[in-house]
Amino acid sequence: MTILQTRLNKWSPQSWQQKDTAQQVKYADEAAVTAALTELTALPPLVTELEIEALKKQLAEAALGQRFLLQGGDCAENFTDCHANAIVNKLKILLQMSLILLHGLHKPIIRVGRMAGQYAKPRSSEYETQNNITLPVYRGDLINKPAFIAADRAHDPQLMLRGYYYSALTLNHIRALVDGGFANLLHPEYWELDFVKHAPMSAEYQAMVDSITNSLDFLKTISGLQTANLDRVDFYSSHEALHLLYEQALTRQTNNGWYNLSTHFPWIGMRTAQLEGGHVEYMRGINNPIAVKISPQITKETLVNLINTLNPHDEPGRLTLIHRLGANKVTALLPEIIETVKKTGKTVLWICDPMHGNTSTTSEGIKTRSFDDILFELRESFAIHQRLNTYLGGVHFELTGENVTECIGGARGITEHDLKHAYKSLVDPRLNYEQALEMAMLIVKMQR
Ligand code: PEP
Ligand code: CO
Repeated sequence: MTILQTRLNKWSPQSWQQKDTAQQVKYADEAAVTAALTELTALPPLVTELEIEALKKQLAEAALGQRFLLQGGDCAENFTDCHANAIVNKLKILLQMSLILLHGLHKPIIRVGRMAGQYAKPRSSEYETQNNITLPVYRGDLINKPAFIAADRAHDPQLMLRGYYYSALTLNHIRALVDGGFANLLHPEYWELDFVKHAPMSAEYQAMVDSITNSLDFLKTISGLQTANLDRVDFYSSHEALHLLYEQALTRQTNNGWYNLSTHFPWIGMRTAQLEGGHVEYMRGINNPIAVKISPQITKETLVNLINTLNPHDEPGRLTLIHRLGANKVTALLPEIIETVKKTGKTVLWICDPMHGNTSTTSEGIKTRSFDDILFELRESFAIHQRLNTYLGGVHFELTGENVTECIGGARGITEHDLKHAYKSLVDPRLNYEQALEMAMLIVKMQR
């Protein structure tokens, strides 16, 4: 037996519990935790091994420059937002963005939502104090509730079950829409949102849709092309694998090994990417494609060790690195990160998250992000990868299909003053529908 096999043999869905684990949940009643986990473990999986392997293959192609990944959704989903409109609108904006990218980049697009399970959030402090009262921070609907009330802020294991059910309901609706023909490339008019006609870039979007529709009609005419592949695009789910008790309960063994069957594409967040920590231990043993957020704090040594631990066999499509460095650091830091990874000789899929390095707080204490900073980080990232002969194979956004005002800038020129009008996020600020659409168009332009 090789050393590696010995190490892997020691892995189990709960071996992470032997490690120091950051961002952990503290339940008061152990029996209640056991009961919730027993119930969760017996419930059917939410996704399948076949879907996961199909996605892994596509991600492997993206790593080689043959596809482009669009990953996006809320910073955190809320149980109360699990209704048809919010789901459909998020699907619509992601489909519209993917159409813009498909048209402009001339590559198949992989569509992945931060959806159907993005219910747990890493926090920088454990407690929050208001008017001399100190309570645990809100950690996402999977763990506790947002209101500043002791009963709501207590960690409740039953919320894991509710999270599972809401994930299932969300996925069910997405699958019904996609299978029913909603995601049909021949009918992009299905994805129109009510306010799209008033968007500053609506004419440009419509011209592109017309051009694609004409090309597809032309292809059909000359080749009698079957439209089977066009009337149903793939759509995958992802979330941060933060609450490991939940992830563990949805980890199932198949003939080919262990899979996290709560989502297709889990990622490790920046605050839990410790080499010796519980999250890396858990993720190394599952067969899903996985991603890791790369922040300015990472050292060269940790980066190399993470790659070797998470993808020892250089399996195609296995590992995605999502860099989130910030507009003010990307130019200085990204080249060295890329060179360090190159030296490992292993292939990764490079993705840029231009959101999380660019969060700021206004003078009134509102968390926001500037459209221009987001754009700058993207532009620099594309340019640096091109210069170093690597391929930036995707983007990771926090966005919503709603008409919120959380990020500053964009064609409509949202200002600090406008943020109050429709600020809905309980956590990070998201691009609204128009800003997301514009961002996709600008990505295409920077690639030309
Ligand atoms: C997130 O994706 O919402 C997040 C918290 O990101 P990061 O781990 O990169 O800070
Ligand atoms: Co976020």
